Amino acid sequence: MSDHDKHLRQLIDRMTASGSLRSQPWKDAAAAVPRHEFLRNGFFRVVDGTSPTAWAPVREGGEGWLEACYTDESLVTQIAGTIKPTDIRGEILREPTSSSTLPSLVLRMLEDLEVQPGMQVLEIGTGTGYSTAVLCARLGDDHVTSIEYDEEVALRAREALSRLDTYPNLLIGDGLQGGDQGTLYDRIIATCAVRTVPTVWLEHTRPGGQILTTIGGWLHASELVRLTVHEDGTASGPALGGQVSFMLARPHQAPPLGMLPDLSAGREREAIIGADVLDEWTTRFVAQFAVPTVQRLKLQNGQHNEDVFVDTETASFAALRHEDGRWIVRQGGPDPLWDAVEEQLGRWHAAGTPAVEEATIRVTPAGQSIHW
Ligand SMILES: C[S@@+](CC[C@H](N)C(=O)[O-])C[C@H]1O[C@@H](n2cnc3c(N)ncnc32)[C@H](O)[C@@H]1O
Repeated sequence: MSDHDKHLRQLIDRMTASGSLRSQPWKDAAAAVPRHEFLRNGFFRVVDGTSPTAWAPVREGGEGWLEACYTDESLVTQIAGTIKPTDIRGEILREPTSSSTLPSLVLRMLEDLEVQPGMQVLEIGTGTGYSTAVLCARLGDDHVTSIEYDEEVALRAREALSRLDTYPNLLIGDGLQGGDQGTLYDRIIATCAVRTVPTVWLEHTRPGGQILTTIGGWLHASELVRLTVHEDGTASGPALGGQVSFMLARPHQAPPLGMLPDLSAGREREAIIGADVLDEWTTRFVAQFAVPTVQRLKLQNGQHNEDVFVDTETASFAALRHEDGRWIVRQGGPDPLWDAVEEQLGRWHAAGTPAVEEATIRVTPAGQSIHW
């Protein structure tokens, strides 16, 4: 048995023991796909003790390369939208833009996708092509379409897939616009997160079909949701839990904050809910539905530290400070952002702060919402 076969078998055993790999058909599919084939251009590892995080390249055949390909970790394969590991020596401090998702999450999601043989699946975010290959191993190449935003990433995935004699329908473009025009898919699975589920995905899914995607946002909390598409063109379904997080789809990434609105203007009142509640993941996830285009920053204002929430689209803001044991909020611009957060969290508190797995997410052409 070759070294990589041994590593692959161990990885499958670990994913089975942890419960991410649950059924024989997906075990067989995972066993058919050597992950290192998708990492021949290398990956970036975190340089220990750096802040902001620095990344250093690990090339094919370099120390620890093969072992790392079979660890259950996400491996960053592109930084700053263009840079691959073979492009640099030394370290780089920019943001990752493409990666090979940790195998246990790939397999957990494929299990959660509830596919049956014969179904047509659209994957958003081909990345290295690893998850595409596992889908093909289970369903057959003719049943898999995968779309990647970044042309170079897509071409590298095509090369890796063809080395394994795997030829799905690979598209290059913005997966937020769906797949092939006129095709209805049984399943859509996204391996990048979205801020709002695009309604075109509902149009590209057969009624009764499902969309499995992570909903994320600019308050930095995300969850995996499984939506069933209904005859009336809406979709709904549960959040599946686990604080699943992916890089946001490129067109959904937060814009630079740029010039802030005048934060000294605005009306003050005592806040019912303090800004510190948003330090907690699920609270942020729930709040994000009320203020989906808001970003948070911390600023010093006189002797006070303020938590500032800004909507760059409308130039609305809410600035909160903790003073003499109470929270004071100052809001400016057309939308009272903190009123919206308090109303949303108030509904969640009134329902007894249920776990995210008890929530239903609804998507209609008018937008998305969370319910208990
Ligand atoms: C986490 S990686 C995908 C991992 C991949 N499934 C794998 O196993 O290697 C996310 C990918 O989504 C891509 N992406 C981001 N926005 C996209 C969009 N709007 N349409 C299609 N792909 C997108 C990124 O370029 C990136 O390659």
